[in-house]
Amino acid sequence: MQRSNILLPLGVLALGAASLVGCRGWTSDKPPVHLNPNMDTQEKAKAFTKNAFFADGLSMRLPVEGTVARGFLHDDDAQSRGLGADGQPTQDFPASFTATVAAAERGKDRWMVYCAPCHGRAADGKGTVTTRPPPGNYPIPAPSMLDARPRSMALGQLYAAIKDGVNNNNMPGYAAQLSEEDRWNVVAYIVTLQANNPDPQAAKGARGGVDLSKLSPGEKVYNAKGCNACHSVDGSPKLGPTFKGLWGKTEQTDKGPTPVDEAYIKESLANPMAKVVTGFPPVMPPVPLSDQEAADLIDYLKTLK
Ligand code: HEC
Ligand code: HEC
Repeated sequence: MQRSNILLPLGVLALGAASLVGCRGWTSDKPPVHLNPNMDTQEKAKAFTKNAFFADGLSMRLPVEGTVARGFLHDDDAQSRGLGADGQPTQDFPASFTATVAAAERGKDRWMVYCAPCHGRAADGKGTVTTRPPPGNYPIPAPSMLDARPRSMALGQLYAAIKDGVNNNNMPGYAAQLSEEDRWNVVAYIVTLQANNPDPQAAKGARGGVDLSKLSPGEKVYNAKGCNACHSVDGSPKLGPTFKGLWGKTEQTDKGPTPVDEAYIKESLANPMAKVVTGFPPVMPPVPLSDQEAADLIDYLKTLK
């Protein structure tokens, strides 16, 4: 009596458990029982399924012709590809970009993240992955940014090296990691670095064997900060205007005639693109000088009659 009382509820329980777990003993063509469908099954077109509604039978549709993804227009070739109207690499920064000290500093920050591993923290080509002994090193040497070739590259070429990489991926491109603006920031860093570390060969010629310790403070700035790479003090032509007779004259610039005074010189150093001298390319890098160095330099300019 007692026994059958227990067995009956036990049997019901076992049956119930079996139906919840699902009887997997045989196959069926019917869909599985789905007790609480919520919104799991809807009438919709899945990307790769057939679709009789459209003439081409595809569910996945193309965007409307002429659609441009936000932020992907890239219609300024100088800015996004470093190319001029003639399709050649630009010699200077794009109009949309201002090479300031802050830009070069941001470029340096990015350089340390993305370029230093191969090209070195000092941009001297001695990165940790290029200098470590094989195997496991980066097999192709990465050049110093102070070598002749990176010094002579047009700014658009430097930009393209960052964007697209170099020589069929001997160096990979960094377009995915660096926005257009950051690529130009890195270019600003490279040219500032080059300007502040003049080519020893070129500098030797420019100094003409002059003993730096005998120079006036302003002459020292002119030589040591690399101004001599692009400017002369004797009227001879170089990439930038000569400093001879510069002080006090009225300079023709893209913003109109401008008297050469202290404010103009300081502006030329901190933000060279603010006024670009007529007849010269806008390639002067921003040069951070201390107030003392700028004052010394101006004293020197005054003597260059
Ligand atoms: C994975 C290593 C690696 C990294 C990271 C790297 N480079 Fe390079 N880079 C190279 C190598 C290798 C070459 C030389 C390629 C050759 O000559 O075939 C090179 C060459 C260059 C050149 C000279 C191109 C030319 O046409 O002569 C420039 C400029 C340059 N790199 C800039 C950069 C900048 C800026 C960054 C950071 C955004 C960077 N590189 C990151 C390996 C690297
Ligand atoms: C990479 C080449 C380069 C270097 C290095 C360079 N400059 Fe220039 N500089 C130029 C060019 C090109 C111009 C003319 C275009 C312009 O106005 O931006 C110029 C213009 C100037 C002007 C305005 C001259 C005028 O005729 O009105 C001053 C002042 C000047 N630079 C000072 C300096 C000083 C000081 C240094 C060093 C600390 C220096 N530059 C380093 C290329 C350079």
